[in-house]
Amino acid sequence: MATYQEAPAGATAPQKMLNWVDNRFPLSKLYKEHVGEYYAPKNFNIFYIFGSLAMLVLVIQIVTGIFLVMHYKPDANLAFASVEYIMRDVPGGWIIRYMHSTGASAFFIVVYLHMFRGMMYGSYRKPRELVWIFGCGIFLCLMAEAFMGYLLPWGQMSYWGAQVIVNLFAAVPFIGPDLALLIRGDYVVGDATLNRFFSFHVIAVPLVLLGLVAAHIIALHEVGSNNPDGVEIKAKKDARGIPLDGIPFHPFYTVHDIFAASVFLMIFTAVVFFAPEGGGYFLEYNNYIEANPLKTPAHIAPVWYFTPFYSMLRATNDLMVNVLSVILAVAGVLGIVKGGLSGKGKLVLAVAAVAGVFLLKAFDAKFWGVVVMGGAVIILFALPWLDRSLVKSIRYRPSWHKIVYGVFVFFFLVLGYLGAQPPSDMGNYVSQVGTLLYFGFFLLMPWWSRMGDFKPVPDRVTFAAH
Ligand code: HEM
Repeated sequence: MATYQEAPAGATAPQKMLNWVDNRFPLSKLYKEHVGEYYAPKNFNIFYIFGSLAMLVLVIQIVTGIFLVMHYKPDANLAFASVEYIMRDVPGGWIIRYMHSTGASAFFIVVYLHMFRGMMYGSYRKPRELVWIFGCGIFLCLMAEAFMGYLLPWGQMSYWGAQVIVNLFAAVPFIGPDLALLIRGDYVVGDATLNRFFSFHVIAVPLVLLGLVAAHIIALHEVGSNNPDGVEIKAKKDARGIPLDGIPFHPFYTVHDIFAASVFLMIFTAVVFFAPEGGGYFLEYNNYIEANPLKTPAHIAPVWYFTPFYSMLRATNDLMVNVLSVILAVAGVLGIVKGGLSGKGKLVLAVAAVAGVFLLKAFDAKFWGVVVMGGAVIILFALPWLDRSLVKSIRYRPSWHKIVYGVFVFFFLVLGYLGAQPPSDMGNYVSQVGTLLYFGFFLLMPWWSRMGDFKPVPDRVTFAAH
């Protein structure tokens, strides 16, 4: 236990009060560690605003969510009407609801950019693996939160979207049908489903999310922030032990982040006031029709932030499973012929490849579609160990690495676009190419990330005063 510190002579009343608190709770210590004396690299660029913006959106979602729950009814007979009531009769209800629905899309825009920043600058590399892993956990929670929240207005898309996705779980071998039943609480999506999704959406997932965000920040502040140069600023410190390239978070980055938050809020409010449906992408038009279990909409598509993964699910048909079997067989043969393995290693690889092909053919393509869709998110957890590049930041990697990242992002966007469209043969072929490139990007990273001519990394961060 720390020894009791008396307030200095002549201390003012607020100083005395702070001293009283500090003797019982490390308020000043926490402020110093995480704000006043948290030294962040001085070369942060615009990509470093998205962490703070994600926090801002999190707060918006929690506050608006609390007010929505005051009038929302989690009952299949009342839910749709209660949302209409919020929109039309509750004073200010419309703005609270539009802030919450726009906030969901804003959350994903901000978080996708935040993750992309991490990928560009190698922010997941040692010693920030846990920062990244907590981030991936946050991303999973966000997806669960958005999926379950979307059922609550009980519109046609809410209902049929949930029906399609929950049915996917039924494709899991052996336990599938029981699993789907457990999730729904009924044989079709119904009142029981709405109640359990409501419970998860308003309390269970947000609790986990908040815990993960706290862990994310604690882990980050333990190791310190990365920066666009990927230079570890803690390697060069002055006599007081302060990084030479570090500046205190407050006031430098508080001002930076407040400016970013102001610009963000201008765009956010413009959408809330003038285009809350986001052209049918933020709120789908079909969702203004009450859920009708007897009438399936002609085209069911998830909300835009899920569509890249939804495309991968749709792309995994029998043809794709055959292509994957061939890829697996070729990889096995190449490994045996060129892998420099011992006799035993070759045998193990041959057995693994044959077993893999057998498994691929043994189960339905629908099941592999679910595996591919889930795998596309789960693979992110492995990124710190897949990347073997000699440097962290894209700035000092071989120039063609930028093209690889560009192709990756381009196809991710194409997958997103195609996932929102009705299925077509051409669209499906492109989605299959996109899916293979997505997984190729990650699974082949241990090889391609170390190839090419790397540029020398400077000792100190590059910074031009502006
Ligand atoms: C609710 C969602 C999230 C919040 C509130 C959040 C918050 C933050 C904040 C405040 C920072 C420090 C400021 C910054 O570097 O921008 C940060 C850094 C970071 N976040 Fe997140 N984050 C979230 C989601 C994610 C996700 C989904 C990932 C990745 C899967 C991720 C990966 C990272 C990484 C790697 C860093 C360190 C960046 C660096 O030092 O270069 N975060 N996060």
